[in-house]
Amino acid sequence: VHWINCWKEIMSAYNYIDHEYDVVVVGAGGAGLRATLGMAEQGLKTACITKVFPTRSHTVAAQGGIAASLSNMGPDNWQWHMYDTVKGSDWLGDTDAMEYLAREAPKAVYELEHYGVPFSRTEEGKIYQRPFGGHTTEFGEGPPVQRTCAAADRTGHAILHTLYGQSLKNNAEFFIEYFATDLIMDEDDACQGLIAWKLDDGTIHRFNAKMVVLATGGYGRSYFSATSAHTCTGDGGGMIARQGLPLQDMEFVQFHPTGIYGSGCLITEGARGEGGYLTNSEGERFMERYAPTYKDLAPRDYVSRCMTMEIREGRGVGKDGDHIHLNLNHLPPEALAERLPGISESARIFAGVDLTKDAIPVLPTVHYNMGGIPTNYWGEVLNPTLDDHDIIQPGLMAVGEAGCASVHGANRLGSNSLIDLVVFGRAAAIRAGKVVDPSAPNQPLNMKSVEKAMDRFDKMRHLDGEIGTAELRLEMQKTMQSDAAVFRANDTLKKGVDKMGSIADKMSDLKVTDRSLIWNTDLMETFELDNLMPNSLATIFGAEARKESRGAHAHEDFPDRDDKNWRKHSLAKVDGSKVVLSYRNVGTKPLTTEKEGGISLKRIAPKERTF
Ligand code: FUM
Repeated sequence: VHWINCWKEIMSAYNYIDHEYDVVVVGAGGAGLRATLGMAEQGLKTACITKVFPTRSHTVAAQGGIAASLSNMGPDNWQWHMYDTVKGSDWLGDTDAMEYLAREAPKAVYELEHYGVPFSRTEEGKIYQRPFGGHTTEFGEGPPVQRTCAAADRTGHAILHTLYGQSLKNNAEFFIEYFATDLIMDEDDACQGLIAWKLDDGTIHRFNAKMVVLATGGYGRSYFSATSAHTCTGDGGGMIARQGLPLQDMEFVQFHPTGIYGSGCLITEGARGEGGYLTNSEGERFMERYAPTYKDLAPRDYVSRCMTMEIREGRGVGKDGDHIHLNLNHLPPEALAERLPGISESARIFAGVDLTKDAIPVLPTVHYNMGGIPTNYWGEVLNPTLDDHDIIQPGLMAVGEAGCASVHGANRLGSNSLIDLVVFGRAAAIRAGKVVDPSAPNQPLNMKSVEKAMDRFDKMRHLDGEIGTAELRLEMQKTMQSDAAVFRANDTLKKGVDKMGSIADKMSDLKVTDRSLIWNTDLMETFELDNLMPNSLATIFGAEARKESRGAHAHEDFPDRDDKNWRKHSLAKVDGSKVVLSYRNVGTKPLTTEKEGGISLKRIAPKERTF
């Protein structure tokens, strides 16, 4: 009776507003908006829920461009793009997803062009493309290719604004500044919708949907220094973990070579694509030594490691010898103004540097999460079991950085993120068009699941412990930064696992000081920390368990890749501070055979990764 009374109290303490949709997309970055647009175009009744105004989603910060083999600047084809993606992933990506990405990329970019994205242009009026790290010709045997389509160095900004406008035009409905707290599952564990909190008036919204698409982005803010926005708190991963579903390949965290020293603000790889280069304290272009063929345009994991080695060996720049210089001052000022106006401004504001004159101080900075919610290449969430790795979780999709298709494997190539967002956002819409029946009625929500979500909401709101949210978040971020870094080792990982376990245990001792429901940033940040925590735990536990080096996971005690034992995806189920790891095979089957015009299996067989 007491329990029932508690429920009645909680349920009556909140104002509920109910909604019914065919599809609800959570997140309005590139993937969320491309999915929203694709769903709405097909006549599905579609809502997009976002905690920030759509054009402020983190995709707005994407600078250098979007990869697609358009061949506007020289020979290129999707097979070369696929090969580079396979090699970039250090043979951990799923072959079908990587083929789908490379094949569909040109189509997806031309669609963007037709929607109105203002790409930079060549003299003949074609989409301008620049070189980016790891993108090559002739299956890695030829020179770098110009494959990255750019709108100056504000490509994400241009894409986001266009997709938002197109989504509105197609009658998608937006719920802006709503924070999705938890998924609602039916008695058979199919997803039925979600609970969202409207931040400006405190009302609680129950969304009933035939399909929920998580497009919530990455969890860069698990770390102390990241190029990611403060909103990148792995909200989708948190919701998934709370349903007892696994997260995949979370140990693979990408460090971008050129975050501005101190602020972590991104300086695009496009800077090196346009001719910029890195130097150490001796003024040496050290990448020539490490990567004689591709030099500064080797993939990011590799360049980040080389920079870290230079610093460790005493050749870092600055008074503490703890960073590296990025030089652009040899390039014509007009070229910088035309191609890289955004980073010219960022360098001035965040480093006090006029890049036409001086080098920019840079340091590898957390930038991207290769891991995420496991999906197939249609974005359908997978709930792998021992016997069947491809069991589809009904009613649920995940796209963009929140998902793990897995197209980037252990390391993503620069400019393969924007293309991932639009290719897989579009794929999710195509799939939803087949599996969601707009004429079928929505099923009533499972009130037990609603109550469970609201119980959590109420508990979080009334947390009355000893520790402030910002204090615990900082402890987590510093631990992740020092113990799950560019280079990892047995002792630091072990220490990190123990520390993160006890940090997660302190969640119940948090204190939320503001109990109101209107613009309560204290509560919102506590929810975000509760989402960051399982992402962080899965990352560091997965890293500690993986006894090899692959892609972004550089293990000093196991410096080699070990395909025999470790060419497999990790799966982490997180419950409180406990993490249970299991593994699933990497998908090695392409979509098309060589006879059908596909890539030969011999071509993409694992080999040593050199540049
Ligand atoms: O360097 C950049 O412009 C970032 C691109 C990316 O992460 O794909």
